[in-house]
Amino acid sequence: MSEKEIEIRPLEASEPGAASMTFPAYHHLLPLAPSERHPGDGKPIKALGLVASKGGDPLGLVLAEIPLVEGRNPEILSLFVKAESRNQGVATRLVESLEGLLREMGFVHLESVYMTGKPTVRAVERIFEKRRFDPPIARTITVKFTPEEAATTPWYGRVPLRGDEKLFPWTEITPEERTQIQQSHARSPWIAEGLESWRHDSIGFDPVSSMGLRYRGAVVGWVINHVIAPQTVRFTCSFVRADLARRARILPLYTASLERLRASGCRHCLFVTPVSYGPMVEFVRTRCQDWVSFVGETRGVVKKLTSSPAAS
Ligand SMILES: CC(C)(COP(=O)(O)OP(=O)(O)OC[C@H]1O[C@@H](n2cnc3c(N)ncnc32)[C@H](O)[C@@H]1OP(=O)(O)O)[C@@H](O)C(=O)NCCC(=O)NCCS
Repeated sequence: MSEKEIEIRPLEASEPGAASMTFPAYHHLLPLAPSERHPGDGKPIKALGLVASKGGDPLGLVLAEIPLVEGRNPEILSLFVKAESRNQGVATRLVESLEGLLREMGFVHLESVYMTGKPTVRAVERIFEKRRFDPPIARTITVKFTPEEAATTPWYGRVPLRGDEKLFPWTEITPEERTQIQQSHARSPWIAEGLESWRHDSIGFDPVSSMGLRYRGAVVGWVINHVIAPQTVRFTCSFVRADLARRARILPLYTASLERLRASGCRHCLFVTPVSYGPMVEFVRTRCQDWVSFVGETRGVVKKLTSSPAAS
């Protein structure tokens, strides 16, 4: 296929066929109207896409989001080329055209986050390399598992609660307890940054599997989860006060949460931890990795669009 025959044009709103070239999680963005990347995440964005076609037939799509608030960068959400047209430079041209478009719109950086583990990750990384993005940086460790797989891990159900500890469904936290958590943290910070309960439950949470831990009557830990697709739950935020975390007090919370998910018929669980949370990464590597369906990384790349637009 000659590159000259390929046309790159803007994606039209609700264009037929676009849905088959991106992830189901992004189908709600295809009308190209103001939206959120994941409904309810509170980050206003708008999708923008470019289609590669030949003789009028679409053969590839790059879908990106542009932020509708200050301080964030546009991000590539998905990149797809039909199997019969791969390895001919189509995706590279889509990315190059997207860079040009965003540069014209005044954006300074373009980012992308992708997951390892797929056979095409080498091609994706090669494309970013050719387009002179900065080298990839690991951002999170992602674990995919079923509640049944979790039950085979060496820690499941093995760490009993002690007399001064009580588990409770997060739906039962009282307004007074919420206030107490925030006020005590404001007086003397005790919650790891990014794991504050109010950050994660304010956009809703899974009432089945989100759990709290009371120690001597005070709320000291939580596992706050979200349903991200039918029968699919993400373990979004896990935290136990540092003095208790050292004694593995998070494990009874996980077990209780997973037992409730098994009983509810949940089929898929996703656990994501930033690589900066060393103990969590260690927990995944030593006590989960060998028992679950998938462990991979998300990696992020960024390119400064004001630098020379030429590819290597
Ligand atoms: C990833 C994808 C978009 C690439 O599309 P493409 O049009 O084939 O990409 P390009 O031809 O522009 O570039 C691919 C590059 O990767 C290289 N490549 C392909 N497979 C590779 C592999 N296994 N190892 C190393 N390099 C590889 C190609 O040789 C090419 O580099 P080159 O130009 O230096 O030879 C396409 O494979 C696809 O749609 N996959 C399914 C969807 C997907 O996984 N998308 C990414 C996550 S959103």
